[in-house]
Amino acid sequence: MVILGIETSCDETGVAIVKSNSTNDKLTLLANKVSSSLSLHSKTGGIIPEFAAREQVKYMIPVLESALKEFDGDFSNSHRSSVVNKIDAIAVTVGPGLIGSLLIGAETARTLAYLWNKPIIPVNHLIGHIYANFIDKANEIEFPALSLIVSGGHTDLVLLKDHGKIKWLGGTRDDAAGEAFDKIGRILGLPYPGGPSIENAAENGNSKKFEFPRPLLNSKDFDFSFSGLKTAVFNRVKTLGHLDDETITNISAAVQEAIVEVLIKKTLDAAKKYNVNSVLLGGGVASNNKLREKLKLNAIRYKLSAEIFVPQKFLCTDNAAMIASAAIYNYKEVPWQKITANPELYFN
Ligand code: KG4
Ligand code: ZN
Repeated sequence: MVILGIETSCDETGVAIVKSNSTNDKLTLLANKVSSSLSLHSKTGGIIPEFAAREQVKYMIPVLESALKEFDGDFSNSHRSSVVNKIDAIAVTVGPGLIGSLLIGAETARTLAYLWNKPIIPVNHLIGHIYANFIDKANEIEFPALSLIVSGGHTDLVLLKDHGKIKWLGGTRDDAAGEAFDKIGRILGLPYPGGPSIENAAENGNSKKFEFPRPLLNSKDFDFSFSGLKTAVFNRVKTLGHLDDETITNISAAVQEAIVEVLIKKTLDAAKKYNVNSVLLGGGVASNNKLREKLKLNAIRYKLSAEIFVPQKFLCTDNAAMIASAAIYNYKEVPWQKITANPELYFN
């Protein structure tokens, strides 16, 4: 089966084409294009929903065309119908996300489904982040699996008993992990998005020079809270007054250490409690090297028997390949008339 995926839930515009192979249970990524309004949003210091949507209107068709060219080489008028014939269905992110942005993807998918006479599969963006892991490793992942989804808008721990059988275990009570990175990056005067900026700055920093709280580290549930950490950094920066480069790198290292420690402890506790076979990391924050490395290292220290899966970095941040992958394993088609964007969509 060949699925064309579309992702526009936040500031990215992504189109990908993914093929499933029933004989070896593997996926092949045939095309993957992403355009981002990041440079615009680094000027505004954060995402302005209307700006994001306006940019996506501009990007949508060129990104689609470029993915189709990557898929088949020739997408000229005379060759178009033969390319389209090779696609079985269209998958699209319907939520959660920014409503203006979601509508652009949903309406594009609806139009293509109508014109090309293809089925359409609505995909939850958060489930998409989990299925980024299946693009390279579908044949290695065993259920039950635990997934930590860490992005700009979400921090969730979920248990997957099988495809489509998801139980939410816990999540953030306030800021998401990525949001904490972004807001703290702003406090430190680092460029948006804060996650990669703090990671870069932290490389030369000494995390022992500052001590920041690890909220809910020892709570018995699987909830998270990061707003107290942000406030602690804000107060510390206020008392310091001027921030020199060394202080910024040290604070960055300490912040990264605090966030990573909480994420890893809760994830490994949950993996042990539910005796899972696989742990799947997903979301933009999953591209953080410290998190990727320490999760694997601490799993060994914890004597966890589960295998740890971490998607390639380009599959952690928003992309359409993960949406097509989620659709392959959760194939529920709807007619084009029934596609609706839902910014509040969650795990159900
Ligand atoms: O999944 P994503 O691309 O979009 C959402 O669904 O939100 O995640 C974006 C988030 C941002 O908050 C960004 O700061 C964070 O992921 N992020 C990182 C890194 N790269 C992106 N956080 C920490 N370290 C990184 N290397
Ligand atoms: Zn995302």
